[in-house]
Amino acid sequence: MNQTDQRENRSVTEPTTATAPGERALAVADGSIMRAIVQRAYGSADSLELATIERPEIADDDVLIEVHAAGLDRGTWHLMTGTPYLIRLAGFGLKRPKQPVPGFDVAGRVVATGSAVTRFAPGDEVFGIARGSFAEYAAAEEAKLAHTPDSATSEQAAVAAVSGITALQALTDVGKLEPGQSVLVIGASGGVGSYAIQLAKALGAEVTGVASTAKLEMVRSLGADHVIDYTTDDFADAGHRYDLIVDIGGRNSISRLRRALALQGTLVIVGGEGGDRLTGGLGRQLRALLLSPFVSQRLTMFVSTEHHSMIERLAAFIESGQVVPSIGQRFGLADVADAMCQMEAGSLQGKSVIIVRDDDADSEIDTGAHR
Ligand SMILES: NC(=O)c1ccc[n+]([C@@H]2O[C@H](COP(=O)([O-])OP(=O)(O)OC[C@H]3O[C@@H](n4cnc5c(N)ncnc54)[C@H](OP(=O)(O)O)[C@@H]3O)[C@@H](O)[C@H]2O)c1
Repeated sequence: MNQTDQRENRSVTEPTTATAPGERALAVADGSIMRAIVQRAYGSADSLELATIERPEIADDDVLIEVHAAGLDRGTWHLMTGTPYLIRLAGFGLKRPKQPVPGFDVAGRVVATGSAVTRFAPGDEVFGIARGSFAEYAAAEEAKLAHTPDSATSEQAAVAAVSGITALQALTDVGKLEPGQSVLVIGASGGVGSYAIQLAKALGAEVTGVASTAKLEMVRSLGADHVIDYTTDDFADAGHRYDLIVDIGGRNSISRLRRALALQGTLVIVGGEGGDRLTGGLGRQLRALLLSPFVSQRLTMFVSTEHHSMIERLAAFIESGQVVPSIGQRFGLADVADAMCQMEAGSLQGKSVIIVRDDDADSEIDTGAHR
């Protein structure tokens, strides 16, 4: 779970799905309402509904964005289900989500700025991390936004920030990757992994990606030098020792990971699904930290820092063409529940985008055909 700010959109009220057509027309005319995905209780995708609610208000250091597209990531799924329970204690809401509109990753156009905002003005195209991006309008802290690179479509920008900065920090600030080193990316076909493969290549590493059979070709297409199919082969028994292992998926034991790690190598644990409902298996990360001082290898984990400086570093890789956001599936705002079901089933690859404003003629929206 990342450290996304949990401030609520103060003006988001109870969904107004029962609004009479005439009332809605009036509210639309005065520009105060919007369509949004709303979640009143933790649960399955059935707990999500498309509703008409008030637009969010913004604080002095916030920006109001007219959302073009939003990105789906594992964090949104965890906040939908409210698991592991630890995230509820971390301030996201004990009994129900404090933020009723899900979604972090965002791309769109600035329509209003708070009085303390200095980096953006209405009309700017921005991307980054918002509070409630599965909506026609979303509020975001200025500090969590960057200008959209000229080379990126709004769909590409919408799937970049959350996963891209996590991969970048895992490889650089935490993993201390040097050109020429060998890197193993476990979970290479997912959101974070699709960025980790491309960034590691851009940083001059020899890259091996671990994924399931059906997604190996996609991992190769991202630039991986080698791929390992975790359904048939064990990366720990391949006889190769890596300078850096970025463990994003699979919840591998520390001992298996260490078997594949060079004696002076670094392990960065980003995440991994499963584990118990209380902690999500966070004990694995803690065990790595406790063991690290007693072994030659550096064993570590981290929670990504959501700051525009990181988003701008990522944007530079996108601008240069070294990183191209990998969009797997496209969904409309009404199909967020389908998208969540597919994420749970493991049928998505790369990043999925929620197209909120369908201005891009090239978009082909997935309406659940993969179910
Ligand atoms: N530390 C942080 O700040 C931070 C930030 C963002 C995310 N995360 C965490 O990182 C994890 C991944 O996030 P994501 O958005 O990339 O999720 P995702 O898009 O669902 O990707 C999950 C990846 O895990 C792979 N995987 C599943 N089972 C595996 C196994 N047994 N062995 C090897 N790989 C396996 C999947 O491969 P296949 O699809 O090929 O099966 C896929 O590549 C999540 O737990 C998330 O909560 C942490």
